[in-house]
Amino acid sequence: MDSGSVQTMTYQDAYRKLEEYGQLHVLKYYDELNEEQKAQLLQQVEDTDFSVLQYVEHKDAALEIKEISPIAAMELDEVEARREEFTQIGLDAVRQGKVAAVLLAGGMGTRLGSDDPKCMYDIGLTHPVYIMQRLVENLMDVVKAAGAYVPFFIMTSDKNHDKTVSFMEKMNYFGYDPSKIWFFKQEMAPAADYSGKVYMEEKYRISTSPNGNGGWFLSMKRCGLIDKVHELGIEWLNTFAVDNVLQRIADPVFVGATIASGCASGAKTVRKADRDERVGVICLADGRPSIIEYYEMTPELLDAKNEKGDPAYNFGVIMNYLFREKDLERIVDEVLPVHIVEKKIPCLDENGNPVSPEQPNGYKFEQLVLDMVRELDTCLPVEVDRAKEFAPIKNKTGVDSVESARELCRQNGIEL
Ligand code: UTP
Repeated sequence: MDSGSVQTMTYQDAYRKLEEYGQLHVLKYYDELNEEQKAQLLQQVEDTDFSVLQYVEHKDAALEIKEISPIAAMELDEVEARREEFTQIGLDAVRQGKVAAVLLAGGMGTRLGSDDPKCMYDIGLTHPVYIMQRLVENLMDVVKAAGAYVPFFIMTSDKNHDKTVSFMEKMNYFGYDPSKIWFFKQEMAPAADYSGKVYMEEKYRISTSPNGNGGWFLSMKRCGLIDKVHELGIEWLNTFAVDNVLQRIADPVFVGATIASGCASGAKTVRKADRDERVGVICLADGRPSIIEYYEMTPELLDAKNEKGDPAYNFGVIMNYLFREKDLERIVDEVLPVHIVEKKIPCLDENGNPVSPEQPNGYKFEQLVLDMVRELDTCLPVEVDRAKEFAPIKNKTGVDSVESARELCRQNGIEL
């Protein structure tokens, strides 16, 4: 139970709520629990939003049919031609304290398979080089160029908060100014089996997982950090993923290009490696900037060409977005779509013994930052050189892995 929270739900209330959502199995072990565990379980039932479970039955209904059309990206040659102009605008904004970095690091990183938060993963070969260290080093490049610190917000979840915070303390924030760093936790969502029944991770605890990277702004608002954003005069929030070790953060060129465009958001994109690369591409859906997932791409869309004869949907997002804060305020109450993701969920077996599955065994429910782009009216996709800026670590080996990221670091002169 959260310290300080007051539990008001009685057993009867919990029974009624669970019955409504078809989840009475949550109380299966109730009589075996001690008083503290009973209180914890009732509190969790009170706090949990079971309404997301409805999406298991209406999985396909969640995917609305949209009219897809291309969006013009600012391509590398144009970025190069205007590099100085954009750099100046971006550096000025950073110097004036208008740009903050928001690291979305609440994910579980199950594919990488480490017990520690992903940011603590050491990709070094001859000496330790932690993922977080790479991110801070990249951000420091901008701090040095601007001569000003970039306020740095770090989102964690219940599952990895304490370890992330103590790791940063232990590592002395990798040289970053700790007074410019703020941690906050995202919300959790229940995890369920394929029929929509929530799993139990203990006899007194429903399995939960972080609710996706889309709730970051709401979480910042709920914990009062948006007040801090206002107090500091921050106008732009640059959200980015933990796992790209070549990630350029608060990149003045990207910031400058987005500001100069007058758009409410910007998205860093890379030219797709090939037609079938598994990456979400930026487009217009019913006239609004949107990201279409690779599995939603039809053969017609994959083969469509623009007037230059290039593939019309050729720019994949790399989870590095710039949002104008005042526009986020406007959409904060909009409900983002819920995505159902198949994952490995630690749970109790039918005899009440804990198991860690080797294979996916159910669903998690996530809202995604990419859907925020659609809520805003305008977005500038900016192409970046993938060989210099895109080295995601999702897996231990193979595609988007520790191995591939190490090779990309090597090519960029980063000693590991
Ligand atoms: P991923 O989609 O790779 O998910 O996250 P994940 O949970 O970290 O990893 P797998 O799928 O279990 O292997 C992309 C980015 O979004 C963040 C992650 O930390 C990463 O930076 N994220 C993801 C959150 O901040 N919260 C979430 O609930 C999920």
